[in-house]
Amino acid sequence: MKILLILNGKGGVGKTTTARNMAAAAAAAGLKVATFDTDPQGTLTKWWQKRPEGAPTIDHYQESLADLEGPVEALEGIDLLVIDTPTAIEMAGIRPNAEKLIDQADLILTPLQATPEDLESVRGTLMLIRSRGKATTFVLNKVKPRVKEVTDARRGLAGGGEVAPVDLPDLAEVYRSFSAGLGVVEVAGAKSVEDFVALWQYVSGKLGFKS
Ligand SMILES: Nc1ncnc2c1ncn2[C@@H]1O[C@H](COP(=O)(O)OP(=O)(O)O)[C@@H](O)[C@H]1O
Ligand SMILES: [Mg+2]
Repeated sequence: MKILLILNGKGGVGKTTTARNMAAAAAAAGLKVATFDTDPQGTLTKWWQKRPEGAPTIDHYQESLADLEGPVEALEGIDLLVIDTPTAIEMAGIRPNAEKLIDQADLILTPLQATPEDLESVRGTLMLIRSRGKATTFVLNKVKPRVKEVTDARRGLAGGGEVAPVDLPDLAEVYRSFSAGLGVVEVAGAKSVEDFVALWQYVSGKLGFKS
């Protein structure tokens, strides 16, 4: 079982969006997928509860990061576990448990927007990941077309880790797919299907899944 950890101490950057879309894309690609919501707000759980009949099955688990005891156990028959996390993971109370997840992760994705606020506040998360001897892959999210900040962000982030080759566009279909309990790749006619598929293929390759 491979563990994909979605981590950024800042809220509203796209962690849950990335988690549910990578899980849905992996399930659509035929993998046995489970999601694990460690955010007490439970947004990923609410999404999972909305999944329509007939959509590829995703198993789901929920436990607040603060309450995690011991390492995440391997789940029988599951190829990929996608873990969503809360904000403020650098805070003393939950930091040790965030560290456990970092230690166990096969791949970490850090979504953020190409804004000065997100670029500054991602440093704390990056330092936390590095303090465990790990690296992260940044995913630029809510990207607007032809905005110079995106090029600047790619350049600025390059020193801190890999930047995924695919950016996720700022589109209403992304939040609409939440209400439908779907990933964008499961929405017929969605404009950004190619972007989410391309991000999944990149992630899948990094995790060592054969496509
Ligand atoms: N690419 C996107 N396009 C449009 N809306 C997005 C996109 N990514 C995230 N959102 C919306 O932005 C908000 C925050 O995203 P979310 O994934 O919940 O962030 P986090 O989990 O990091 O707090 C949500 O309302 C979500 O639907
Ligand atoms: Mg979230």
